[in-house]
Amino acid sequence: MILSIESSCDDSSIAITRIKDKKLIFHKKISQESSHKDYGGVVPELASRLHAKLLPQILKECKEFLNQLKAIAVTTEPGLSVTLLEGVVMAQSLAYALNLPLISVNHLKGHIYSLFLEKDSIFPLGILLVSGGHTMLLESKGLNETKIIAQSIDDSFGESFDKVAKMLSLGYPGGPIVELRAKNGNAIINLPQPLNNKHNLAFSFSGLKNAVRLEIEKNTINDNFINDICASFQKVAISHIVQKCKTFFELNKQSNTWQHFAIVGGASANLSLREQIQNIADSYNKQLLLAPLSFCSDNAAMIGRVAVESYLIGDFVDIKDIKITPKIQSF
Ligand code: KG4
Ligand code: ZN
Repeated sequence: MILSIESSCDDSSIAITRIKDKKLIFHKKISQESSHKDYGGVVPELASRLHAKLLPQILKECKEFLNQLKAIAVTTEPGLSVTLLEGVVMAQSLAYALNLPLISVNHLKGHIYSLFLEKDSIFPLGILLVSGGHTMLLESKGLNETKIIAQSIDDSFGESFDKVAKMLSLGYPGGPIVELRAKNGNAIINLPQPLNNKHNLAFSFSGLKNAVRLEIEKNTINDNFINDICASFQKVAISHIVQKCKTFFELNKQSNTWQHFAIVGGASANLSLREQIQNIADSYNKQLLLAPLSFCSDNAAMIGRVAVESYLIGDFVDIKDIKITPKIQSF
């Protein structure tokens, strides 16, 4: 079995995965959302202190498996450096005390492998990765063969939901709240579609966020307005993603690199996004892969699933050389 730790942002999570059949033997995640709510976003120092308290608490709950472990895995990139550090220090201590090899896991690879919990992987894949930190189109042929095709030139899809919720004092994280408000509203407020040029394969959300801010400033804030601005924002944010995905599918029609397309990351839980990407996949005759809703956001199970692949090819890091990389370097 492999014990995996995730602490790249505000979720403290540990999983234990059986190597031979990838079965999830133990998984627990404690979300820190309620602690960050008052600030409208994650406070890194607070998140770090909470990881220091919560990770040992979770570890106690799975101590019966410690003598069956073959390796320790931990998220090392990308993420907040002070929170990554908490997981890494715990992983180093466990690897040292139990004399086990250490596996360093890229968080974004984790999101990709959230598609393959307790099952075999499917590659090659076209991927839309939408989280709080990233918005990307990727092509992946396997564990260490992922190419970035497009990314956001400023903010991410998930972060723009968080900021809209913050501007409207709706709480954190904004994604599920804005999605719910949007369901009860009408998309009647005119907002600009970002990078509205189908040949430009990149994302941008800062202009849209700013347009929402201007509407909030000039309107009376009541429930109807909140629902309508959420509906209008979500419609444009998703239609921006849909436009770029269509271009991506069109390009793949020529190269025929992948037959399967996936949406991963915390914001892949958005049902309207899922529905619209499903329509594109259907029209291009591609199969859409999605992670279970409860494993879209950050969790250690997806880190453990990547770690199984790394373990099988003997990809370990030295306990003294393990590095934290806040920004993504490469796949
Ligand atoms: O992957 P994740 O858990 O953390 C990062 O790696 O960043 O993604 C969290 C992000 C947050 O920005 C959250 O607001 C967004 O995903 N999110 C959503 C939805 N659920 C979560 N965004 C839009 N619609 C949702 N339903
Ligand atoms: Zn994530």
